[in-house]
Amino acid sequence: MPSKQSIALIGPMGSGKTSVGRRLACVLKRDFFDSDHEIVARTGVSIDHIFDVEGEEGFRERETNILSELLVIPDMVIATGGGIIIKKENRDLLKKNAFVIYLSSSIDQLVKRTLLSKNRPLLEKSNNREKTIKKIVNEREPWYQETADVTIDTSGKKLYVIINEIKKVLNNEKK
Ligand code: S3P
Repeated sequence: MPSKQSIALIGPMGSGKTSVGRRLACVLKRDFFDSDHEIVARTGVSIDHIFDVEGEEGFRERETNILSELLVIPDMVIATGGGIIIKKENRDLLKKNAFVIYLSSSIDQLVKRTLLSKNRPLLEKSNNREKTIKKIVNEREPWYQETADVTIDTSGKKLYVIINEIKKVLNNEKK
């Protein structure tokens, strides 16, 4: 991994991208950005609201715009939205411009970690979250795999353990 290259975290809702990203950035002394937070900050409205007004398509367009802007800045840690890998354009952008870490997780964990979530439109509209999460993960798994340089399983692991695993991977990349 080139030393000035950004690190991007991908993975389904609840896989820990934001908490891992924030801590990783702190440990590596890099800036941290979260694509969802950037969209909310710039529009001044929630993701739910964007889905309501512009549909998923509108949200995806905003997501691509933010991603291309963020990837121009070197040396950052970027947490992405779970669906970022749906579009080939985004997968190509990520592969070309970042070292991509896929945070995978068991369905059980994803369900638990998203249980209290109130700002994830794809889950809120579902009457069976487990089934919805399973379906989303199955559909997207090949895209996560295709885009990632490395996969880290976060199931049942404490934050510091995940960070240590990532640090090990990054150190090996430097060799
Ligand atoms: C989505 C995941 C969310 C957010 C939006 C759509 C998805 O981000 O971008 O609700 O399609 O999986 P998180 O993965 O951070 O929850």
